[in-house]
Amino acid sequence: MNQMDVRKPFSEQLKIYQAAVENALDQSLKEFPCRQQEVLEAMRYSLLGGGKRIRAILVLEFAKLGGVTMEQAMPAACALEMIQAYSLIHDDLPCMDDDDLRRGKASCHIKFGEATALLAGDGLLTCAFETLCRAANSFPAQRVLTAIQKLSQHAGYRGMIGGQMIDLKSEGKKIDEKTLEEMYTLKTAALLKAACASGCLLSGRADLVPAAEEYAQYLGLAFQIVDDILDITGDQALLGKPIGSDSQNDKNTYVTLLGLEKAKELAKECTQKAQNQLIGLGAAPGFLENLTDVLLNRLQ
Ligand code: IPE
Ligand code: IPE
Ligand code: MG
Ligand code: MG
Ligand code: MG
Repeated sequence: MNQMDVRKPFSEQLKIYQAAVENALDQSLKEFPCRQQEVLEAMRYSLLGGGKRIRAILVLEFAKLGGVTMEQAMPAACALEMIQAYSLIHDDLPCMDDDDLRRGKASCHIKFGEATALLAGDGLLTCAFETLCRAANSFPAQRVLTAIQKLSQHAGYRGMIGGQMIDLKSEGKKIDEKTLEEMYTLKTAALLKAACASGCLLSGRADLVPAAEEYAQYLGLAFQIVDDILDITGDQALLGKPIGSDSQNDKNTYVTLLGLEKAKELAKECTQKAQNQLIGLGAAPGFLENLTDVLLNRLQ
């Protein structure tokens, strides 16, 4: 257990991480000036000032398992949050979930219009890879390449995009449990896998990737089930996004398939399986264990 874990309670550590990520994200866009102010403003609007920063924190924590400092791993952490912010901009568009509220403020397309929001998403997606390349200032280029490859696979059509496709084409239809699991695995767990795996890869611990991805798989299933539960039982003011969006769009979720109580049980089971993977990873009991539990019981 490192000193930070011993001295600081979980919630304080979480805030330290969140503030460090926020600051680094702010800086990272300042370092790429641009004359197209409108698209940059929309990118900054959606990237900064909100979000739990879970994916960034997973990069930092898994890099730490391999002895890497927060500073060294920060470009990769920022890259993950850029992909996350882009995915949310696009997810909220009228052609997708058509949601007007995100992270407690107007969705990007409400504030800037659909075309600019589309471009802001594209801008963040590509900027993520430019930012990840900066990891080469701290790590051998070969390691950075493997992290880039991992992120490309998990964020792309075999990962998050594939999951979003299943999500959209299943609206208004009944799908079986296998397809539902595939959808969650791709649309949510894949990016979490990219976060955990890139931390391992950059720190030179490629051997940890399979267990890290298994952890992210269960964390991702639990995370999306909780997200779907909060879409029904949550408080919009706390959640910062609309309640009832899933039922309005006739989405398939574990709640529609199993009911609220069984879905809650499944989220708990997945969280326990994620915890078991952490033991296998040799992670010191502490931050990751707490984070995994807190995400099960979150209200936002
Ligand atoms: C929202 O992710 C999208 C899902 C995969 C459910 P988060 O709940 O992590 O959103 P932010 O980044 O904290 O806003
Ligand atoms: C989105 O799932 C997952 C993404 C890849 C963005 P949701 O559509 O349920 O996410 P929210 O509820 O809008 O954040
Ligand atoms: Mg969606
Ligand atoms: Mg949505
Ligand atoms: Mg949701």
